[in-house]
Amino acid sequence: MNFMSRKKKEEKQKMPERPVSDFPRLSKHPQLVKGMKDILPPDQAYWEHIRALAKKIAEGYGFERIDTPIVEHLPLFTIGIGKQTDIIEKEMYSFIDQGGDSLALRPEFTAGFARAYIEHGMQSLPQPVKLYTIGPLFRHDKPQEGRYRQHTQFNCEVIGEGKAAIDAQLILLGYRFLSSLHIKTVVQINSIGCRTCRGTYKELLTEYYRAKRSSLCEDCKRRLNKNPLRLLDCKIETCQQLISKSPPIVDSLCEACRDHFIAVLEFVEELEIPYQPNPHLVRGLDYYTRTVFEFFAVSSDEGTQAGRMSALGGGGRYDNMIEMFGGLPTPAAGFGIGVERAILKIKEVEKASGAKVIEKNPTADVFVAQLGEQPKRRAMVLYEDLLKEGFSLVSEFAKDSLKAQLEIANRSGVKFTIILGQKELLDGSIIIRNMEGGEQEVIDMKKLIPTLHKKLGHINHGKEGE
Ligand code: HAM
Repeated sequence: MNFMSRKKKEEKQKMPERPVSDFPRLSKHPQLVKGMKDILPPDQAYWEHIRALAKKIAEGYGFERIDTPIVEHLPLFTIGIGKQTDIIEKEMYSFIDQGGDSLALRPEFTAGFARAYIEHGMQSLPQPVKLYTIGPLFRHDKPQEGRYRQHTQFNCEVIGEGKAAIDAQLILLGYRFLSSLHIKTVVQINSIGCRTCRGTYKELLTEYYRAKRSSLCEDCKRRLNKNPLRLLDCKIETCQQLISKSPPIVDSLCEACRDHFIAVLEFVEELEIPYQPNPHLVRGLDYYTRTVFEFFAVSSDEGTQAGRMSALGGGGRYDNMIEMFGGLPTPAAGFGIGVERAILKIKEVEKASGAKVIEKNPTADVFVAQLGEQPKRRAMVLYEDLLKEGFSLVSEFAKDSLKAQLEIANRSGVKFTIILGQKELLDGSIIIRNMEGGEQEVIDMKKLIPTLHKKLGHINHGKEGE
């Protein structure tokens, strides 16, 4: 794979002068949309591993896969997530389609899951309903490392149960997922109460901030009256200082919310999940009630990397959303983990330890080489037969020289190369070359499949030829 330097890339992007033709042409080579990423072949092993792990862990805890569309009606998000959040105010990709409908590219999964739960009558299924997915989301954020305009989340939701055990199980699931990727993780946890206690806290918070209004950023000034809780997730340095001295929400929790929070923490302790209470954690979406949590990587020297890198994942309880969407009052909770951020972290772990967390896709076993036009046609058919037999193969049918093919075979790391030339075709034989020692043997073509199985140590593949 050729990874060009930026300068070289720019030089290449200058289109060469060509005679004018009738074909429509771009004035420069097409480029990635800012904040979007290609996932190139060398990275695919990480993605495959993560998809498989997400499936294994989620299904191991009784979750079933759901896939919701990338495009939803805009109000699903404006109402679900909250109009005064960064996602809605600044980051949503929304548009009017050809039919005049107001639509949006999903910026998160939770609201879409809630819609699907209501729309497909899942309230009549045994409760709770446990759903998971992994897929792309879109936010027009300022691109930087770990922050993209298209990112991917592994997302789990439990709808129809309000007990603290569910919150703890979700935290456990996210923690297990990250730990299985060798990412040392700590969970920050808080409770932001329910409709009842939130009112009292909002008053307290507004009072705290009113005296400091002049020191607030413009967004916070604007949100102070309408949605004071959002001031607690402002990332601006001066606002952060005020956040650290703001009254902790846990002191304002009603009795039921306090009991719930204590129960969650007791479960988390029992499960031995490393956690830190964070009295100012509110998360950037309006739908949360009671428990909120975020997963952070820990490095041995710096402690939590909360400052250096944003959370790897986050979630919480959202007991009002289904009702807000017109369903019956239904408690729910969930989390999303950012796959790109997890992969960045895995690569950091691999670099620091010098050991691979994720093995590259295993190399193929056999290279199929050919010499001459007729043998090439026969080798293409043979390739199909061997694939059906379950062998993992490589070939380069565009190459004619045996030397060039053996070089590719060598680079690909196969154990054996089989060579079919004119002579072998005529006498019904084939050459097997051991790539390690270079020794070759000619065998009867009819014996090829059992011989290869035997040489590769495959068991249960019958006797060698007849
Ligand atoms: P969120 O905190 O907005 O929560 O996103 C969850 C995770 O997705 C983040 O911690 C981060 O790892 C990743 N992420 C978010 N935005 C970006 C981005 N622009 N670039 C790269 N990664 C990103 C939610 O989305 C909630 N819906 C989670 C949830 C599920 N709550 C309850 N259920």
